[in-house]
Amino acid sequence: MTLKDKIDLERLPRHIAIIMDGNGRWAKMRGKPRTFGHKSGVKSVRESTEAAAELGVEYLTLYAFSTENWKRPKFEIDALMHLLLQTINKETETLNKNNIRLNAIGNLDNLPSNIHKGLMRIIDDTAGNDRMTLTLALSYSSRWEIVETLKKLALQVKNKQLNVEDLDQEMFASYLDTANMPDPELLIRTSGEYRISNFLLWQIAYAELYFTPKLWPDFRKEDLYEAIVDYQGRERRFGKTSEQLKA
Ligand code: FPP
Repeated sequence: MTLKDKIDLERLPRHIAIIMDGNGRWAKMRGKPRTFGHKSGVKSVRESTEAAAELGVEYLTLYAFSTENWKRPKFEIDALMHLLLQTINKETETLNKNNIRLNAIGNLDNLPSNIHKGLMRIIDDTAGNDRMTLTLALSYSSRWEIVETLKKLALQVKNKQLNVEDLDQEMFASYLDTANMPDPELLIRTSGEYRISNFLLWQIAYAELYFTPKLWPDFRKEDLYEAIVDYQGRERRFGKTSEQLKA
Protein backbone atom coordinates (compact mmCIF):
# COMPACT_ATOMS: atom_id res chain seq x y z
CA MET A 1 0.00 0.00 0.00
CA THR A 2 1.48 3.34 -1.02
CA LEU A 3 1.31 6.42 1.16
CA LYS A 4 -1.19 7.93 -1.27
CA ASP A 5 -3.48 4.88 -0.93
CA LYS A 6 -3.55 5.40 2.82
CA ILE A 7 -5.31 8.75 2.36
CA ASP A 8 -9.04 8.66 3.06
CA LEU A 9 -10.41 10.88 0.30
CA GLU A 10 -13.65 11.33 2.24
CA ARG A 11 -11.79 13.07 5.06
CA LEU A 12 -9.41 15.32 3.16
CA PRO A 13 -8.61 18.72 4.62
CA ARG A 14 -10.46 21.26 2.46
CA HIS A 15 -7.72 23.80 3.01
CA ILE A 16 -3.99 23.18 3.49
CA ALA A 17 -1.59 26.03 4.30
CA ILE A 18 2.18 25.72 3.99
CA ILE A 19 5.05 27.74 5.43
CA MET A 20 7.74 27.01 2.84
CA ASP A 21 10.99 27.30 4.74
CA GLY A 22 14.61 26.26 4.33
CA ASN A 23 15.52 27.44 0.83
CA GLY A 24 18.51 29.41 2.08
CA ARG A 25 19.90 26.55 4.17
CA TRP A 26 19.36 24.08 1.34
CA ALA A 27 21.45 26.27 -0.97
CA LYS A 28 24.12 26.93 1.64
CA MET A 29 24.60 23.20 2.20
CA ARG A 30 25.46 22.99 -1.50
CA GLY A 31 27.79 25.99 -1.42
CA LYS A 32 25.35 27.98 -3.57
CA PRO A 33 23.74 31.42 -3.14
CA ARG A 34 20.39 31.61 -1.32
CA THR A 35 18.64 32.51 -4.58
CA PHE A 36 19.54 29.04 -5.90
CA GLY A 37 17.50 27.64 -3.03
CA HIS A 38 14.50 29.77 -3.99
CA LYS A 39 14.76 28.66 -7.62
CA SER A 40 14.90 25.05 -6.52
CA GLY A 41 11.86 25.64 -4.30
CA VAL A 42 9.70 26.27 -7.36
CA LYS A 43 9.66 22.53 -8.12
CA SER A 44 8.26 21.91 -4.64
CA VAL A 45 5.57 24.54 -5.24
CA ARG A 46 4.60 22.72 -8.45
CA GLU A 47 4.62 19.28 -6.81
CA SER A 48 2.52 20.39 -3.83
CA THR A 49 0.03 22.16 -6.08
CA GLU A 50 -0.30 19.14 -8.35
CA ALA A 51 -0.59 16.69 -5.48
CA ALA A 52 -3.19 18.77 -3.66
CA ALA A 53 -5.30 19.31 -6.79
CA GLU A 54 -5.10 15.64 -7.82
CA LEU A 55 -6.35 14.55 -4.40
CA GLY A 56 -9.21 17.03 -4.38
CA VAL A 57 -8.02 19.57 -1.83
CA GLU A 58 -10.02 22.75 -2.49
CA TYR A 59 -7.64 25.40 -1.14
CA LEU A 60 -3.86 25.48 -0.96
CA THR A 61 -2.24 28.55 0.58
CA LEU A 62 1.51 29.12 0.37
CA TYR A 63 3.48 31.63 2.45
CA ALA A 64 5.70 32.98 -0.32
CA PHE A 65 6.83 36.34 1.07
CA SER A 66 6.23 37.83 4.50
CA THR A 67 6.04 41.48 5.51
CA GLU A 68 9.26 40.80 7.43
CA ASN A 69 10.97 39.45 4.29
CA TRP A 70 11.24 43.06 3.01
CA LYS A 71 14.17 43.35 5.46
CA ARG A 72 16.25 40.90 3.40
CA PRO A 73 19.11 42.14 1.15
CA LYS A 74 17.75 43.96 -1.89
CA PHE A 75 19.25 41.55 -4.40
CA GLU A 76 17.51 38.62 -2.70
CA ILE A 77 14.17 40.46 -2.71
CA ASP A 78 14.60 41.37 -6.38
CA ALA A 79 15.49 37.78 -7.25
CA LEU A 80 12.46 36.44 -5.35
CA MET A 81 10.10 38.91 -7.04
CA HIS A 82 11.52 38.08 -10.45
CA LEU A 83 11.22 34.37 -9.76
CA LEU A 84 7.67 34.77 -8.61
CA LEU A 85 6.58 36.64 -11.72
CA GLN A 86 8.50 34.31 -14.02
CA THR A 87 6.96 31.25 -12.37
CA ILE A 88 3.37 32.42 -12.41
CA ASN A 89 3.74 33.60 -16.01
CA LYS A 90 5.15 30.25 -17.01
CA GLU A 91 2.53 28.28 -15.12
CA THR A 92 -0.62 30.19 -16.20
CA GLU A 93 -1.34 27.70 -18.95
CA THR A 94 -0.90 24.73 -16.60
CA LEU A 95 -3.12 26.40 -14.01
CA ASN A 96 -5.84 26.89 -16.62
CA LYS A 97 -5.46 23.37 -18.01
CA ASN A 98 -5.87 21.99 -14.51
CA ASN A 99 -8.74 24.32 -13.63
CA ILE A 100 -6.80 25.98 -10.76
CA ARG A 101 -7.53 29.54 -9.73
CA LEU A 102 -4.66 31.76 -8.57
CA ASN A 103 -5.33 34.11 -5.69
CA ALA A 104 -3.13 36.34 -3.52
CA ILE A 105 -3.41 37.72 0.00
CA GLY A 106 -1.31 40.32 1.76
CA ASN A 107 -0.31 43.94 1.29
CA LEU A 108 -0.16 43.61 -2.49
CA ASP A 109 0.13 47.40 -2.98
CA ASN A 110 3.65 47.08 -1.58
CA LEU A 111 4.77 44.84 -4.44
CA PRO A 112 6.82 46.37 -7.27
CA SER A 113 4.34 47.62 -9.89
CA ASN A 114 5.37 45.14 -12.61
CA ILE A 115 4.91 42.23 -10.19
CA HIS A 116 1.58 43.62 -9.00
CA LYS A 117 0.36 44.04 -12.57
CA GLY A 118 1.53 40.59 -13.66
CA LEU A 119 -0.04 38.98 -10.62
CA MET A 120 -3.39 40.71 -11.16
CA ARG A 121 -3.41 39.65 -14.80
CA ILE A 122 -2.91 35.99 -13.90
CA ILE A 123 -5.46 36.18 -11.09
CA ASP A 124 -7.88 37.55 -13.70
CA ASP A 125 -6.92 34.95 -16.31
CA THR A 126 -7.60 32.08 -13.90
CA ALA A 127 -10.62 33.59 -12.13
CA GLY A 128 -13.08 31.19 -13.76
CA ASN A 129 -11.33 28.02 -12.55
CA ASP A 130 -12.97 26.12 -9.73
CA ARG A 131 -11.16 22.87 -9.02
CA MET A 132 -8.74 24.34 -6.49
CA THR A 133 -7.74 27.82 -5.31
CA LEU A 134 -4.00 28.34 -5.00
CA THR A 135 -3.39 31.35 -2.79
CA LEU A 136 0.00 33.01 -2.51
CA ALA A 137 0.57 35.01 0.65
CA LEU A 138 2.73 37.89 -0.55
CA SER A 139 3.96 40.77 1.57
CA TYR A 140 1.68 39.12 4.09
CA SER A 141 1.65 39.06 7.83
CA SER A 142 -1.23 38.06 10.00
CA ARG A 143 -0.98 40.99 12.39
CA TRP A 144 -1.03 43.35 9.41
CA GLU A 145 -4.16 41.61 8.10
CA ILE A 146 -5.88 41.77 11.49
CA VAL A 147 -5.14 45.48 11.92
CA GLU A 148 -6.38 46.18 8.37
CA THR A 149 -9.57 44.33 9.21
CA LEU A 150 -9.99 46.39 12.38
CA LYS A 151 -9.52 49.60 10.41
CA LYS A 152 -12.23 48.60 7.92
CA LEU A 153 -14.64 47.74 10.72
CA ALA A 154 -13.83 50.88 12.72
CA LEU A 155 -14.56 52.98 9.66
CA GLN A 156 -17.95 51.30 9.27
CA VAL A 157 -18.74 52.03 12.92
CA LYS A 158 -17.61 55.63 12.47
CA ASN A 159 -19.86 55.98 9.42
CA LYS A 160 -22.73 54.44 11.36
CA GLN A 161 -22.94 51.51 8.92
CA LEU A 162 -22.23 49.03 11.70
CA ASN A 163 -23.27 48.74 15.34
CA VAL A 164 -20.46 47.61 17.63
CA GLU A 165 -22.94 45.18 19.26
CA ASP A 166 -23.44 43.40 15.93
CA LEU A 167 -19.76 42.61 15.52
CA ASP A 168 -19.02 38.92 15.94
CA GLN A 169 -16.37 36.39 14.89
CA GLU A 170 -18.10 35.56 11.65
CA MET A 171 -18.30 39.19 10.61
CA PHE A 172 -14.68 39.78 11.60
CA ALA A 173 -13.56 36.82 9.50
CA SER A 174 -15.53 38.14 6.53
CA TYR A 175 -13.26 41.21 6.43
CA LEU A 176 -9.99 39.24 6.47
CA ASP A 177 -8.10 38.65 3.20
CA THR A 178 -9.21 35.02 3.46
CA ALA A 179 -12.90 36.00 3.61
CA ASN A 180 -14.19 33.46 1.12
CA MET A 181 -12.10 30.50 2.21
CA PRO A 182 -12.66 27.93 4.92
CA ASP A 183 -10.03 28.00 7.68
CA PRO A 184 -7.08 25.67 7.03
CA GLU A 185 -7.48 22.34 8.79
CA LEU A 186 -3.82 21.50 8.23
CA LEU A 187 -0.79 23.79 8.48
CA ILE A 188 2.57 22.42 7.34
CA ARG A 189 5.96 24.00 8.05
CA THR A 190 9.14 22.66 6.54
CA SER A 191 12.77 22.96 7.66
CA GLY A 192 12.44 21.79 11.26
CA GLU A 193 11.46 25.18 12.69
CA TYR A 194 8.57 25.10 15.16
CA ARG A 195 7.14 28.56 14.56
CA ILE A 196 4.10 30.14 12.93
CA SER A 197 5.93 33.33 11.87
CA ASN A 198 2.90 35.61 11.70
CA PHE A 199 0.99 33.38 9.26
CA LEU A 200 -2.83 33.11 9.34
CA LEU A 201 -2.99 33.51 13.13
CA TRP A 202 -6.75 33.99 13.21
CA GLN A 203 -7.46 31.27 10.67
CA ILE A 204 -5.40 28.47 12.26
CA ALA A 205 -7.23 28.56 15.60
CA TYR A 206 -8.19 24.89 15.17
CA ALA A 207 -5.72 23.76 12.51
CA GLU A 208 -3.60 20.67 13.01
CA LEU A 209 0.07 21.65 12.88
CA TYR A 210 2.56 19.46 11.05
CA PHE A 211 6.29 20.10 11.16
CA THR A 212 8.80 18.31 8.98
CA PRO A 213 12.61 18.59 9.01
CA LYS A 214 12.63 18.47 5.18
CA LEU A 215 13.92 21.69 3.66
CA TRP A 216 11.43 23.22 1.21
CA PRO A 217 13.37 22.43 -2.02
CA ASP A 218 13.29 18.73 -1.01
CA PHE A 219 9.52 18.70 -0.39
CA ARG A 220 7.74 16.36 -2.82
CA LYS A 221 4.26 14.89 -3.37
CA GLU A 222 5.03 12.05 -0.97
CA ASP A 223 5.75 14.58 1.77
CA LEU A 224 2.35 16.15 1.29
CA TYR A 225 0.73 12.70 1.40
CA GLU A 226 2.62 11.94 4.61
CA ALA A 227 1.35 15.15 6.22
CA ILE A 228 -2.24 14.33 5.22
CA VAL A 229 -1.99 10.76 6.54
CA ASP A 230 -0.65 12.15 9.82
CA TYR A 231 -3.50 14.69 9.94
CA GLN A 232 -6.08 11.96 9.34
CA GLY A 233 -4.67 9.97 12.25
CA ARG A 234 -5.43 12.78 14.69
CA GLU A 235 -8.55 13.26 16.74
CA ARG A 236 -9.95 16.76 16.22
CA ARG A 237 -11.93 17.53 19.34
CA PHE A 238 -12.65 21.29 18.98
CA GLY A 239 -12.79 21.59 22.77
CA LYS A 240 -15.05 18.54 23.26
CA THR A 241 -14.06 15.28 24.97
CA SER A 242 -13.09 12.14 23.10
CA GLU A 243 -16.22 10.40 24.45
CA GLN A 244 -18.49 13.18 23.20
CA LEU A 245 -17.05 12.83 19.71
CA LYS A 246 -17.65 9.08 19.67
CA ALA A 247 -21.25 9.39 20.94
C1 FPP B 1 11.87 30.51 2.87
O1 FPP B 1 13.18 30.03 2.84
C2 FPP B 1 11.33 30.75 1.55
C3 FPP B 1 10.96 31.96 1.04
C4 FPP B 1 11.09 33.22 1.80
C5 FPP B 1 10.44 32.11 -0.33
C6 FPP B 1 9.67 30.99 -0.93
C7 FPP B 1 9.66 31.21 -2.37
C8 FPP B 1 9.74 30.29 -3.33
C9 FPP B 1 9.75 28.82 -3.09
C10 FPP B 1 9.87 30.78 -4.73
C11 FPP B 1 8.75 30.70 -5.64
C12 FPP B 1 7.42 30.80 -5.08
C13 FPP B 1 6.29 30.73 -5.79
C14 FPP B 1 5.00 30.72 -5.05
C15 FPP B 1 6.23 30.66 -7.25
P1 FPP B 1 14.31 30.88 3.56
O2 FPP B 1 14.93 31.75 2.54
O3 FPP B 1 13.73 31.57 4.74
O4 FPP B 1 15.29 29.74 4.00
P2 FPP B 1 16.24 29.71 5.31
O5 FPP B 1 15.32 29.72 6.49
O6 FPP B 1 16.98 28.42 5.15
O7 FPP B 1 17.13 30.91 5.21
